[in-house]
Amino acid sequence: QTGMFTYDPGFLSTASCQSAITYIDGDKGELLYRGYPIEQLATNCDFMETCHLLLYGNLPNAAGKVEFTHRVTQHTMVNEQMQFFLRGFRRDAHPMAIMTGLVGALSAFYHDSTDITNPEHRDISAIRLIAKMPTLVAMAYKYTVGQPYMYPKNELSYAGNFLHMMFATPCEPYVVNPVIERAMDRIFTLHADHEQNASTSTVRLCGSSGTNPFAAIAAGVACLWGPAHGGANEACLNMLEDIQRMGGISKVGEFMEKVKDKNSGVKLMGFGHRVYKNYDPRAKLMQETCKEVLAELGLENDPLFKLAMALEKIALEDDYFVQRKLYPNVDFYSGIVQRAIGIPVPLFTAVFALARTVGWIAQLNEMIGDPEYKIGRPRQLFTGAVRRDVAPIGQR
Ligand code: SDX
Repeated sequence: QTGMFTYDPGFLSTASCQSAITYIDGDKGELLYRGYPIEQLATNCDFMETCHLLLYGNLPNAAGKVEFTHRVTQHTMVNEQMQFFLRGFRRDAHPMAIMTGLVGALSAFYHDSTDITNPEHRDISAIRLIAKMPTLVAMAYKYTVGQPYMYPKNELSYAGNFLHMMFATPCEPYVVNPVIERAMDRIFTLHADHEQNASTSTVRLCGSSGTNPFAAIAAGVACLWGPAHGGANEACLNMLEDIQRMGGISKVGEFMEKVKDKNSGVKLMGFGHRVYKNYDPRAKLMQETCKEVLAELGLENDPLFKLAMALEKIALEDDYFVQRKLYPNVDFYSGIVQRAIGIPVPLFTAVFALARTVGWIAQLNEMIGDPEYKIGRPRQLFTGAVRRDVAPIGQR
């Protein structure tokens, strides 16, 4: 029994930690951030309110939201030296390779917020990371397309500022479309936290050694990059483009047969989940957001969206998927809506990392703030050789 929840002993023995931040019921397809359903947060709040909720455990009132948002805007710029760090990368470097380096490098600039055992350092590094991730992701993008970096404009919203830094140039401003801005903000909220997923567990394990918060978050960025995790949105978009090139909807049946052939190694990217054995509630909200953005941009007939809807319909009626409880996850539609906004495919996972930073930090700070925590030390079942003596090389 922990709080309002009762767990069977078998589950408790597998749990890696206790947490009060995010609750998932995989069978019901339910996701709560600090008790609030994701559907209500994505509809009635914005990302700044969600950040405040995840970090401090409550939704801010109007004055609290203004104060929190102001604190974040005071840290949106990065040290000018960071641009020289970027110059070390090839222009065609993957944005996640750049982000893994940039986030870790932040610890070289902010010595007044690197002591993870100091609550004030934890709070200011949280604000700095939330504030600087959009700036760093936009810098990684501008570097790969050979355009000058755009400084943040603090009068814009968090999402509006990110879109400005991504798409404005010194020659032309980016005019923020409220529908696109709202969609971007909702994409951040839908990715903000997700209990003990692979990258969050990585951040917790890394931070448990007492390393600085920036290094721990950089470890999370590296883990999220994998195609089985945050990299799935990029892999899903590439999969849809491949099917489109092969002939589109007419080829969906042939593709699904490959997916069901275990020897093919082909997976339906954006489908399935370690915990959800029902529809990922974020996928429903992402599909709605996708429809809104495509309608706003006059792209209702976007072939990839139609292809994704056809794939989902077939999968939800196919025994292979039904028996295995495989449903769309957060990554299935997120790539289509980001592509419509103009975000290039290789940047999708960097956007995921931008949004998940607040969840990583909240989970890290929850662990470090617990006086009972110790350095992580997962145990193994040894299956190797029994003790034996070394023979001289001539006798091997
Ligand atoms: C994220 O943990 C989190 O919370 C992660 C995340 C977050 O917010 O942090 O939600 C974000 O990472 C979402 C997942 C994104 N990944 C993908 O979309 C990649 C495609 N999905 C698969 O790789 C897979 O579904 C995983 C990795 C997500 C889960 O893998 P599991 O644990 O093996 O899934 P499972 O146990 O439910 O699989 C049951 C069966 C297996 O076949 P059998 O051995 O029973 O015959 O379903 C098969 C799997 O091989 N299967 C798939 C499949 N996913 C599982 N078959 C085809 N396509 C798929 N996508």
